[in-house]
Amino acid sequence: MSFSFLRASARRTALAAAPRRVAQPSATVKSAFRRFSTPPPAPEAKAGGSSNALLYGAGGAVVLGAIGYWVFASDSGKEAATAAASGIQSGKAKLNITPTKDDYQKVYNKIAELVQDAGDYDDGSYGPVLLRLAWHSSGTYDKETKTGGSNYATMRFQPESLHGANAGLNIARDLMEKVKSEFSWISYGDLWTLAGVAAIQEMAGPKIPWRPGRIDGFAASATPDGRLPDATQGADHLRNIFYRMGFNDQEIVALSGAHALGRCHTDRSGFEGPWTFSPITLTNDYFKLLFDEKWVWKKWSGPKQLEDKKTRSLMMLPTDYVLIQDKSFKKFAKAYANDQDVFFKDFSAAVSRLFELGVPESQWATYEPWTMKTIDEQAEEKK
Ligand code: HEM
Repeated sequence: MSFSFLRASARRTALAAAPRRVAQPSATVKSAFRRFSTPPPAPEAKAGGSSNALLYGAGGAVVLGAIGYWVFASDSGKEAATAAASGIQSGKAKLNITPTKDDYQKVYNKIAELVQDAGDYDDGSYGPVLLRLAWHSSGTYDKETKTGGSNYATMRFQPESLHGANAGLNIARDLMEKVKSEFSWISYGDLWTLAGVAAIQEMAGPKIPWRPGRIDGFAASATPDGRLPDATQGADHLRNIFYRMGFNDQEIVALSGAHALGRCHTDRSGFEGPWTFSPITLTNDYFKLLFDEKWVWKKWSGPKQLEDKKTRSLMMLPTDYVLIQDKSFKKFAKAYANDQDVFFKDFSAAVSRLFELGVPESQWATYEPWTMKTIDEQAEEKK
């Protein structure tokens, strides 16, 4: 049984009540204006990657206008007017196409190809670092102020691109530029979250329902430092951070299960090593290992982390270990250790929601999220 059924049904109800998104003609755009108290982007704002040129180039080519203008106004209301377009909208304007699910599947396939084509990078896959990019671009959301989240892909800009928590994600952002150059119509937020979806699905994880509609924003919407979790802290901190995004204890534990994948790098976070023996395949081993192994504090000059007493080759962060110390977290961790299907179901629901944080309902290109096909499924269909 999934712990997320209550939330899932509540969400279905909310979605059913929400209007379907239809492309708005420019005449109706004015009524859709949304005001922000942030000042307009500073002209000297730097993008983290080559995306800068795409955003500001060609005499404001991003002011594609027809649909979906978003006004960033100062308090005085003197400055205003900058615009951005979602993939759907910019696809229409740039290429005279309306991207379909098949077009997004092509983007997915390109990402999947790059995930696997990692040579001797880490454990032979870019999947984990791409998932971390998608999560860090979404996990900045604050439900009170409705700022942050995946909508504007503000990690392209300094200082957000240089926040300590984002160290190393330039690798993932640069990799995604290869996809962006081929599919220029897709917004960065859609591209990065779709990369998270492809990473999970191609690393044997569950299907992650996903839909397009995020728009490219500006540096003025970048979030302050400190919104992402600090791995050296405990249960209170985890709750503060994830409750702020709108998640509950069960979802905190489910999302943490992503640490079955990838590894820590001393030159990025200061921590070192993988959590599991199969860091490029999603399993519930992270939870199993938390319970089954004896974890001891690693004796080294780096930040406080745990290692498994038996092999000393695996690690846990203090925020991972707290999942079996805190009573409420432990209940869910145990359920996920006992049953991978339960973990996959809850992980899928939580990640899907994570990747949608900060995106207004009216922006979605489709009412029902899509399920993208894995490379293996497509090969099977061709047989
Ligand atoms: C619960 C709070 C969390 C904390 C404190 C945390 C912290 C960290 C740290 C310190 C690293 C190592 C970064 C490096 O040195 O390269 C890391 C890696 C990673 N995290 Fe988290 N994380 C958290 C939640 C999440 C969530 C919710 C996800 C995804 C849903 C996630 C996905 C990943 C992945 C896939 C990696 C491996 C990246 C790689 O191999 O390059 N983490 N995390």
